[in-house]
Amino acid sequence: MRPVKMTEELWQHLLSLRERAARPVVLSADIDAACLSLYQPVAQRDRPFVLAQVGQSLDGRVATPTGDAQDVSGCDGIAHLHRSRALADAVVIGVGTVVADDPSLSVRAVRGKSPVRVVVDCNGRMPEQAKLLHDGGMPVLIMQADDVPRRKSAHEVVRLPRQADGGLSPRDILAALAARDLATVLVEGGANTISRFMDAGLVDRLHISVSPIIIGSGPSGIRLAPIDRLSEARRPEVQIYNIGTDIVFDCNLRVEAGRKAISPECENVLMADTA
Ligand SMILES: NC(=O)c1ccc[n+]([C@@H]2O[C@H](COP(=O)([O-])OP(=O)(O)OC[C@H]3O[C@@H](n4cnc5c(N)ncnc54)[C@H](OP(=O)(O)O)[C@@H]3O)[C@@H](O)[C@H]2O)c1
Repeated sequence: MRPVKMTEELWQHLLSLRERAARPVVLSADIDAACLSLYQPVAQRDRPFVLAQVGQSLDGRVATPTGDAQDVSGCDGIAHLHRSRALADAVVIGVGTVVADDPSLSVRAVRGKSPVRVVVDCNGRMPEQAKLLHDGGMPVLIMQADDVPRRKSAHEVVRLPRQADGGLSPRDILAALAARDLATVLVEGGANTISRFMDAGLVDRLHISVSPIIIGSGPSGIRLAPIDRLSEARRPEVQIYNIGTDIVFDCNLRVEAGRKAISPECENVLMADTA
């Protein structure tokens, strides 16, 4: 596990990468390499990039059964989320999260620009009083199926073809964002939205930020198509970072981890079991 320490110099450097600065802020030799490797893939602008992020408890929950999702993450987990927002061009959530949490999706815990806000609202059920529609913050893009009756909106509604499964294609959503020069995308939740992007194979990195609390019951942050056998489970290459109050599992979904070599201790246990 790699401890992470963000410094002002490193944050300036990351923001300069995000802004495609002709001359990015130069780093001193003793910079925290772990911190750089956690955030640089999101900050750099050499290719389109999708980061998905889940803030969860030790037992893998993101809310209580009654929907209380406030403060699942500790303060460093929240700072991590806000850094990810500040390094992204756009943040995507499903309409379920708007209904449940009424978020603003702005950057507050760190210094940086807030991303464009994108709500996947296939069937046009976003509450008219949702905070992000009225707070005067960054632009809001609403992704909607092209067969939904048009309603007047103060925000841009992007109409996309409804797919055979009744939903919108995550690939179409990313293409619509790329057409608006929004190529670094943070998919912030909830489970339905993240899982659709993952099932479509469009997520480069998944950050699972684990906070040391046990909720005991309630929804989880990812809900993929069921599998029968653990051998079918995804085993991405993972780097683990200690960010303070929370632990971040940085999963590279483009690289499948090889099966780890068995340690001598483990091998002894296995041999004893079969003896
Ligand atoms: N801790 C965290 O990291 C975190 C972050 C965000 C949210 N959350 C929690 O997650 C929960 C909400 O998650 P959720 O899974 O219920 O809802 P969600 O993912 O926020 O929204 C799901 C809805 O969005 C629409 N949608 C999303 N992607 C779509 C696509 N590709 N095509 C068509 N429609 C699409 C659908 O709307 P229709 O049903 O209208 O078709 C779908 O039912 C809340 O409890 C919230 O607190 C946790």
